[in-house]
Amino acid sequence: MKIDGTPYRSIWVDGHDGWSVRIIDQTRLPWALEILRLAELADAAHAIRAMQVRGAPLIGATAAVGLCLALRADASDMAMERDAAILAATRPTAVNLHWAVARMLARLRPLPAALRVAAAYAEAQAIADEDVAMCQAIGQHGVGLIGDIAARTGQRVNVLTHCNAGWLATVDWGTALSPIYAAHEQGIDVHVWVDETRPRNQGAALTAYELGKHGIAHTVIVDNAGGHLMQHGMVDLVIVGADRVTREGDVANKIGTYLKALAAHDNGVPFWVALPSSTIDWSIADGIGEIPIEERAASEVALLTGRALDGTIATIRVMPPGSDAANPAFDVTPARLVSGLITERGRCAASEAGLRALFPDHAMQPAA
Ligand code: MRU
Repeated sequence: MKIDGTPYRSIWVDGHDGWSVRIIDQTRLPWALEILRLAELADAAHAIRAMQVRGAPLIGATAAVGLCLALRADASDMAMERDAAILAATRPTAVNLHWAVARMLARLRPLPAALRVAAAYAEAQAIADEDVAMCQAIGQHGVGLIGDIAARTGQRVNVLTHCNAGWLATVDWGTALSPIYAAHEQGIDVHVWVDETRPRNQGAALTAYELGKHGIAHTVIVDNAGGHLMQHGMVDLVIVGADRVTREGDVANKIGTYLKALAAHDNGVPFWVALPSSTIDWSIADGIGEIPIEERAASEVALLTGRALDGTIATIRVMPPGSDAANPAFDVTPARLVSGLITERGRCAASEAGLRALFPDHAMQPAA
């Protein structure tokens, strides 16, 4: 996607040296577009942990190139397994991270150490390129949902989204935002309600940034406004991304997604989840019981960072110093509240039968 006319991916291998990795520092957006250089394993692990890169598919792509950087230092069996484990442990909820590390290891384990670095870069590039293709396909499979509403009502289509599941959360195009970009390209009049997504404000900071750079009409709302807008017929459709989807269609996504699904259900608003197949965890069925939910620092709740009126970037405290804060970063929306899933292979019901029909080639483990 483009920023001020220049095409970007969210991550790429530096074209000059051919091995270091470039990322957009997402902790600096929307205030500054800063490109960071990752040169070793520790840089990649830090980028994921500190959320300089975030979003399930991008975390996976970063872990893949992180392993390339690690192998440059030491490609022995022992180092490779140790460094893969370090990368896999950087964040717990998004399964794409584990999927990417497992895919890299499956490719590299059979190879002698001397061949591993080149093979790792090729595999990491394939992961990134395939993510772009999957996200673009999600857009093509999802755009009909928006187009049908436009055709039926003859009016602007209002889509609500939560967190950032746009191109910044993937390698390009995004998941939840990809159908919106496709609709915009087709000339459909679409407007996006952007949940601010406390505590880290990925909606206000990142989704608003990328929609704005692409010229898509949008309005940032506080997280608690969605239910009210739905009650008043101001939301035609909800589309969110996912960090992990179980084989039965339960969806882990940014904290607050579940409340939006409840409100959508109560108001008869379709609630769709967009995801590449790398986000499906075929090994588990029950999302609430089995998906690990990341607990992040209380300081993310207590402190807010933004641009002060004098133009400086400032961090302020929004609660009394003596109060505790809890910060679960994700929640699970049960499949029964999900109208359907938008994948790179098409749309399906949020159910084992629905996923099995689209992905018959995936090993489906029986429920424990
Ligand atoms: O904590 P984050 O910012 O990594 O959480 C991101 C989300 O929850 C996204 O909605 C999800 O990863 C889908 S990204 C296409």
